[in-house]
Amino acid sequence: MTAGKEAGQAWSAPYQADGYHDAGGPLPAEAEQLWEVNAGWWQEAFTAGADAEYVEQIIPLLAEQLRSVRPGRALDIGCGEGQLSRVAAGVEGTRHVVGVDPTRSQLSVALERTGAGTDEEPGTGGAAARGPEGSGPEGSGGHGMSGRGAGEAAGARVTYARASAASLPFADASFDAAFACLVFEHIEGTAGALAEVGRVLAPGGTFVLLLNHPLLQAPGSGWVDDQILGEQYWRIGPYLVEHHGVEEVDKDVWIPFVHRPLSVYVNAMAAAGLYLTRMEEPAPPEGFLARADEYREAAAFPRLLMLRAEKLARGR
Ligand SMILES: C[S@@+](CC[C@H](N)C(=O)[O-])C[C@H]1O[C@@H](n2cnc3c(N)ncnc32)[C@H](O)[C@@H]1O
Repeated sequence: MTAGKEAGQAWSAPYQADGYHDAGGPLPAEAEQLWEVNAGWWQEAFTAGADAEYVEQIIPLLAEQLRSVRPGRALDIGCGEGQLSRVAAGVEGTRHVVGVDPTRSQLSVALERTGAGTDEEPGTGGAAARGPEGSGPEGSGGHGMSGRGAGEAAGARVTYARASAASLPFADASFDAAFACLVFEHIEGTAGALAEVGRVLAPGGTFVLLLNHPLLQAPGSGWVDDQILGEQYWRIGPYLVEHHGVEEVDKDVWIPFVHRPLSVYVNAMAAAGLYLTRMEEPAPPEGFLARADEYREAAAFPRLLMLRAEKLARGR
C-alpha cells in the first residue's frame, strides 16, 4: 500500500496508475493528511539546503521582500519545517515570527531545527496561541507553541502553532507581514484563507505569496521537443479549468494539488483588502537548470510566481 493510499483510504475513487488522481471536485479533508505521511519526503528533498530553487531563488527573494518592510511581527502560513520562518527571523527589524501549519510531523521538525524544546507536542493544547509578543491581540484559542515552544533564530523569537490557513488563531491586525510559500496550490478554500490573511495583517502590512506559476505550470503543461516536426515549445495545459487532484510526485509519494487561474488569487486578494504592489516571475535558477539539458532549453519559462500585496487601511 502506498503512503498516499494509506492516508487517503477514505476516498472512494482509486488512485490512477498514471500517477494522477482527479478528485472530480474539491479535495476531501483527508487529503491534508497526505502531508502528515509525506512530511519526511518534503524535508529531505526541499529543505536544509537540499533544493537549489530554495537556496538560490526562494530564500533570497523572500528575504529581499521582508528586508524592504522590516516587519516587527511576521506570520509564516504553512511553515512546514520552518525554513522560511528562520529566514524571516534573520531579517533586521523582525522581533517575532510565528509559523503555522496543520501537519504535526512538520511542526515537530520545525521545533527541533529552530532550536526549540520539543517537550510539548504541537496541537495538544499548550499555551493558547497569542498575537506576537503578547502585544494585546489574543488568539482565538488555537494550539500554540509559545513560551516552551519558542526558539531563537538570529535574535528574533520564533514560535509555532498548529493551525490551518482557513482559520488563523490570531486576533485582527496581529502582524506586520505574512507570507505563504508553496502552500496555496495544495489547499482548498483560497478565498477564505486569503480573507484570513487580510484579517490578521495590520493596515499597511505586507503579504508575500509564492506559488508554482499557475499559468505556466498548469496541469498538462511542459516542454515539448517534437522530433518529427522539429519544433520545441512550452505546452500550456487547460489553464482556465480549476483542477483538484492528488499527484504522485515521487515514488509512492502522493501530494494534493489544486490548480486555479491566476485571477482567482488576485481577485480573492483584492476582496481581502490585499492590493498587489509587485509581481515577480523569475527564470529558474542555475542550480535547477544544471540538472538536465531539457531544463536549460526551457529556461525562459518561469516555475515560480511571487505576488506581493499591501493590506489597505479600512475605507481607503
Ligand atoms: C510544500 S510545503 C511548503 C512548506 C514551507 N512553506 C516551505 O516553503 O518550506 C506545504 C506545506 O503546507 C502545509 N499545509 C497543508 N495544508 C495546509 C493548510 N490547510 N493550511 C496551512 N498549511 C497547510 C503542509 O503541511 C506543508 O507543510
